[in-house]
Amino acid sequence: MNHFLDIHKTDPAELKAILSQAATMKSARNGAPKATPDSEQPLANHMVALIFEKPSTRTRVSFDVGVRQMGGETMVLSGADMQLGHGETIADTARVMSRYVDLIMIRTFDESVLTEMAEHATVPVINGLTDRSHPCQIMADLMTYEEHRGAIQGRKVVWSGDGNNVCASWLHAAAQMGFDFTFTGPVQLDPEMEFVGLARQAGVQVTIERDPMRAVDGADLVITDTWVSMHDAQSARERRHNMLRPYQVNRDLMAKAKPDALFMHCLPAHREEEVTSEVMDGPHSVVWDEAENRLHAQKAVMRWCVGA
Ligand code: CP
Ligand code: NVA
Repeated sequence: MNHFLDIHKTDPAELKAILSQAATMKSARNGAPKATPDSEQPLANHMVALIFEKPSTRTRVSFDVGVRQMGGETMVLSGADMQLGHGETIADTARVMSRYVDLIMIRTFDESVLTEMAEHATVPVINGLTDRSHPCQIMADLMTYEEHRGAIQGRKVVWSGDGNNVCASWLHAAAQMGFDFTFTGPVQLDPEMEFVGLARQAGVQVTIERDPMRAVDGADLVITDTWVSMHDAQSARERRHNMLRPYQVNRDLMAKAKPDALFMHCLPAHREEEVTSEVMDGPHSVVWDEAENRLHAQKAVMRWCVGA
């Protein structure tokens, strides 16, 4: 079963094939109006469930549009409105959903919900973000990097800020795609050491550097994300802001990276917090391409999942 649960759980050759198919499908659309069906309809007669236990703009819309362009049908479900939120086990939900739909995408809190869903579903399951990872985002980001700058292998990627779920999927990608990864942020918000170890074991250089200016020296790509994720307690907001302020991506920080370095953010961004508008809207930024590529990358992920 081709579940898409995490970048490090998918073979590097398959990741590359998915990225290549995404690029081909993007160029084949050639900017057609959004509701124009793709010339190939690999999801014809397929029903796709999109389950959200957390808010979403990009994931919700890009999956829904992507399925429709490929000829499939979607249902967008809120976890709270399903029996899932009222005591039915994840395993039983997975068994039942598998009788109605051909593919399940779920955004949830605890990773165990995703893994239990995948274990008991008889259709493929896609991770649409958990507290611990966000692989679909990083597929779009890898596609975006390579579209602008060619192969990411051997490049220096720097994450500045909270070592969160998006940062984790970047570490997974470093292991699979072979690029160097530097984390800069406060010690309290380091990425999970299990994932740092995984990337190092794969033979890539992972550096933890507390000084953001030193960290971005010679970077090909600088990335950040919100200082307070959806799974973080709002009560921790002020403390997190105080810890993370030195890691804001601004003009001075970008000036330390390579002159042609790219800037990425998965969005939603909090302007003038983790990133200044000057950088978000400036020449290094590819954030809108990243957002667009969620659509193309996920279409290729879905094709891989259903083998179509
Ligand atoms: N980047 C991302 O996953 O955005 P949404 O939360 O809007 O889906
Ligand atoms: N780290 C963020 C990513 C949102 C797409 C969160 O989990 O809220």
